[in-house]
Amino acid sequence: MAGIIDLRSDTVTHPTPKMREVMSRAEVGDDVYGEDPTVNRLQELAAEMLGKEAALFTASGTMSNLVGVLTHCGRGDEMIVGDQAHVFVYEVGGSSALGGVHVRTVPNRDGFPDPVEVEKAIRGQNVHFPRTRLVCLENTHNRCGGVVLTPEQTEAIAAVTHRKGLRLHMDGARLFNSAVAQGMPARRLVEQCDSVNVCLSKGLCAPVGSLLLGTKEYIEEARRWRKMVGGGMRQAGILAAAGIVALTEMVDRLAEDHTNARTMAEGVAQIPGLRVDLSSVQTNIVMVDIERAGMDGGVFTARMKESGVLVSYTGDGNRVRLVTHWGIERGDAERAVLAARRVMSA
Ligand SMILES: Cc1ncc(COP(=O)(O)O)c(C=O)c1O
Repeated sequence: MAGIIDLRSDTVTHPTPKMREVMSRAEVGDDVYGEDPTVNRLQELAAEMLGKEAALFTASGTMSNLVGVLTHCGRGDEMIVGDQAHVFVYEVGGSSALGGVHVRTVPNRDGFPDPVEVEKAIRGQNVHFPRTRLVCLENTHNRCGGVVLTPEQTEAIAAVTHRKGLRLHMDGARLFNSAVAQGMPARRLVEQCDSVNVCLSKGLCAPVGSLLLGTKEYIEEARRWRKMVGGGMRQAGILAAAGIVALTEMVDRLAEDHTNARTMAEGVAQIPGLRVDLSSVQTNIVMVDIERAGMDGGVFTARMKESGVLVSYTGDGNRVRLVTHWGIERGDAERAVLAARRVMSA
């Protein structure tokens, strides 16, 4: 059997040969003093690409989102977020645990919370209520199958948010997937956002790192919060060097991941017992509904593994996730479909 096909996540990607090469000769300094030239270059490049005044290199998407929220909200303030958002489901409750931020959810729907419901959730002035400070969106939306938010959708939420004097944070862990899928520059997707997280270590293949972006003043304050949560790194230019390759050389190729995801989705959708909502396959994530497969997600995942394909089962509901990324070719996508067919006909 050829090598294992790992579709659990795009976080399993390894740094490219070019990344390893530039890392080995990266110019470095102490970034807590702001003296790492490569980190500074990465931050300037990201700010330029996303149309924001400034950027801050962080250890992970979770750290970017956490620092992002802590910079906007004080203890007892409230943030509104979709009930399927990564920030709400998968980030260990960090903003509540570490920032005392009260989290209020609205139904996520298909990755785009209804602006009317967001508006209703914003608290009025009342001595009994927490103060609503922040709304958080996600583009692409991980648990909703990698669906994109259009600029118009984000603008609709931004209009409500800003009318009420709140701030808007975008968890854009896979923002570049969204931009490539929609054929537009990433900056267009976050024009109305006060802060943005983007990840370098998913489909863009950097080994480590994310960026938080916003105004100069906001990022200066975020730098303090990053230090507080232990994210002040020293010669981080070694990592930032790979991040620069991620932003300059790895964005356009995300289109291949999207094509391979579509190939896989269309193949899997034809297998009796498995269902895929093809309209939700917009980027590199394929959610497979196994409710009628006659086995639970744990068994399905184990049988796929025996067939040489790793997929992820989150343990909630009947969904299994397959994610394409650098290193997964069209042939691998086709082999994954064959494996699923074998598992279902066994
Ligand atoms: C939408 C989204 N936001 C944030 C994160 C967190 O990123 P990290 O794993 O780097 O902490 C992820 C990770 O998969 C994600 O999918």
